[in-house]
Amino acid sequence: MTPRTVKAKSAKKTVTKKTIKSSTATSTNNVKPKLYASLVVQLLSLLKDEYDFVANAANFSALLFNSLPNVNWAGFYFLKGDELVLGPFQGNPACVRIPMGTGVCGMAAKQVETIIVPNVHEFPGHIACDVASNAEIVVPLFDGERLLGVLDLDSPIIGRFDDQDAEGLNELVTVFVAHEEGLE
Ligand code: SME
Repeated sequence: MTPRTVKAKSAKKTVTKKTIKSSTATSTNNVKPKLYASLVVQLLSLLKDEYDFVANAANFSALLFNSLPNVNWAGFYFLKGDELVLGPFQGNPACVRIPMGTGVCGMAAKQVETIIVPNVHEFPGHIACDVASNAEIVVPLFDGERLLGVLDLDSPIIGRFDDQDAEGLNELVTVFVAHEEGLE
């Protein structure tokens, strides 16, 4: 299985075109869309009346980690200068700094695209933070057209993430960033 990409959707709707380049891993049932719809409701509830970015990112990562099956790491890397720096997450301790273009996270940030990696061991330059991780999905976060960082999820299950996960996670990060009106 080879890595593939899905165009990211802008958090503030300045980029509306979303191109799915491959749908081979897409499920035919609606279990995942229903789960992600439920997570949108839960995320909105967690964010309600709270505008601390770090606190909200921490709760967002905990929501994903505890709600999505077969996920062993869920969290953020934020763009600082020309590198990604570890943000709030759930899972094992992870590498702190990732240069743009390096690993799955750095590649998703550089290409400003969601990247689905069915098998991380086949992704050139993958950064292994947890030996249990076999699959990964990385979703860029935007404030308008400004890249804020990425949301990263790992799974021990090869092929765990598909286009429905990409769509659901892109919707969630859009809701998340749109809520954080006070971003600097
Ligand atoms: N695997 C990532 C590094 C971050 S950890 O998965 C938490 C990558 O290749 O960029």
